Amino acid sequence: MGTSKKTLVSQSSHSQQSWPWWPLLPLYPYGRKRTIFRELIPNKVWCYEQLQGLYYVAVPVRLTVVKVEGGLMIVNPLPPTIELLSSLNQLEKIHGPVLTIVLPTASGLEHKVSLPSLARAFPQASIWVCPGQWSFPVGLPLSWLGIPGKRTKFLLEDGVPHGETCQWLSLGPIDIGLGRFQEVACFHQPSGSLLVTDALIGIESTPPLLFDLDPTPLLFHARDRGDEPLEDSTEARRKGWLRLVLFASYLRPNQLEIPPLSEVITKSFKPGLRSSRAHFGIFPFSWKEGWENSCKELVGDRKALIQIAPVIERLVFPRAQATFVDWLDQISNLPRLRWLISAHFSAPIEFNKNQARRFKDKTYKRSWASNEGNFKFLGGLDKRLLMLGVVPDDPLRVFKD
Ligand SMILES: [Fe+2]
Repeated sequence: MGTSKKTLVSQSSHSQQSWPWWPLLPLYPYGRKRTIFRELIPNKVWCYEQLQGLYYVAVPVRLTVVKVEGGLMIVNPLPPTIELLSSLNQLEKIHGPVLTIVLPTASGLEHKVSLPSLARAFPQASIWVCPGQWSFPVGLPLSWLGIPGKRTKFLLEDGVPHGETCQWLSLGPIDIGLGRFQEVACFHQPSGSLLVTDALIGIESTPPLLFDLDPTPLLFHARDRGDEPLEDSTEARRKGWLRLVLFASYLRPNQLEIPPLSEVITKSFKPGLRSSRAHFGIFPFSWKEGWENSCKELVGDRKALIQIAPVIERLVFPRAQATFVDWLDQISNLPRLRWLISAHFSAPIEFNKNQARRFKDKTYKRSWASNEGNFKFLGGLDKRLLMLGVVPDDPLRVFKD
């Protein structure tokens, strides 16, 4: 494999994991951000991972650190807890200071919300952001969002950081109505790693290591009814993980039914489950027989299955397939491409030129923007947004001039 097994699982106290700015984007696990550290490519690439999600639909979010000339570059911020910063400081002692912090996405809120506090933690670092940063519901200037204007530059518009070791490949911009979708992938030549934010991911059936710190979200979703206790086993963790993947991928998977409120209430508040950890037994989900089968398109059995995240494919790219294929084409021409490292799910994943080319061909030929099966909910959502005029029918229109 060529990757190191060096992993530091958090032993820190609650206070070292707290992050006071969590109400800006109130996602589970709120103010407590446990972090794990992993060395992905020996002496070249490392990452930190924290959980983030809604109602126990939590998936890991990743900050990646790469070795550059004279120090380190961070790609995709995470909330800088004391725990995370002290580990980063250890890396700095060995490999040099954090020179650069990059926010390579225009849209991914979960990546941008912690940029101001991470930037403050490294006052000497230069900041690079993807062009077209937007804030919802109103567009605010960068400085209003707490991003230091004086040391912030826009990727590609103002040049690129560490051009001697990194190649930058833009996906988009694509007009998505409320703002724009764009992310700039970074190819880190010394390690052969392609750093991507949300556009490409790889998922495997084993739950991420991060859940070893607290498997509650997995055990919560492994159940079939609200009156079942949360019981821990390898099988329960795997089952819960597959269901989380389905939720995160399709928002409302086709194999999921929402039972009537009366049924949910009858099974709630049972003895042993009257705690916030079990959401007081409130479990408004019911999975149809054979739900596992729909995971086959998402989850690789022995290794991660590389894919375009279904939410992104169906809501961001339905009318921009060609743009996506162009970007994949650039990727498949990268010399010495070896690994894919995304900001979510598995990393690093083997991804060489041939694999990238096969993936591009498959993407090009595949029927795109389906409304069937698991895509029914996302397809319906897209149709409604189109009808309301929230999303444009030609997402490249405003950028063509
Ligand atoms: Fe993301």
